[in-house]
Amino acid sequence: MLKNTLLYTGKAKSVYTTDNPDLLILVFRDDASAFNGEKIAQLDRKGKVNNLFNAFIMEKLAEAGIETHFEKLINPSEVLVKRLDMIPVECVIRNYAAGSLCRRLGVEEGKVLTPPTFELFFKDDALGDPMVNESQSIALGWATAEQLEQMKVLTYQVNQVLTDLFEQGGMLLVDFKLEFGVFHDRIVLGDEFSPDGCRLWDKETKKKLDKDRFRQGLGDVVEAYEEVATRLGINLDSI
Ligand code: TMP
Repeated sequence: MLKNTLLYTGKAKSVYTTDNPDLLILVFRDDASAFNGEKIAQLDRKGKVNNLFNAFIMEKLAEAGIETHFEKLINPSEVLVKRLDMIPVECVIRNYAAGSLCRRLGVEEGKVLTPPTFELFFKDDALGDPMVNESQSIALGWATAEQLEQMKVLTYQVNQVLTDLFEQGGMLLVDFKLEFGVFHDRIVLGDEFSPDGCRLWDKETKKKLDKDRFRQGLGDVVEAYEEVATRLGINLDSI
């Protein structure tokens, strides 16, 4: 598959067109950013770890019947994906309180959320990805009511599959963010699932194994991502 022109450069990935209009190549870079781009760094191996991690998770979700944009790994830092028309609304599920929920509502970190909460955020760097609701998303033309309902159902399905998967590796899936797009009229999971876009804690010690290590300056960021991968049985030397 030929990598053609650079379509878009995100904070951690670059997107290229290919000779097939239905397919794109994502390049996972070693760039890390937090606080809406205020804190940035280069983290050796992060691109490769996240690419292989994401491929493993996307395959697990496909096995569970959830359609994703993942097609195939090209090399350790590149993946071939379906070209989706992205919906600019991020879906977040929280099983335990952390991050912005604690700041917003004054809730203690780690509080169990029963049932898990579902939130929407408008994907807009200039606005700092503000929280939005369903009626705003519909009225502003970002998604239809039907699309939002499908995204919600799919995000809860992903939560079930991945909560079980991480549990088997002795980890708690605290929260995560998903992005969806439209591919030939179907809602399909896009972007990535990696420790950059979720919170994972060791079940016993509650050690943070995700991007909060970078946000909070805890160190050993990529080492923690590699630990998560190893616990799931992902072979980081697989390609
Ligand atoms: P938050 O606590 O900052 O709202 O984030 C909740 C979860 O969603 C956390 O795992 C980080 C992830 N997330 C992103 O990766 N990118 C985003 O733009 C947002 C809003 C959340």
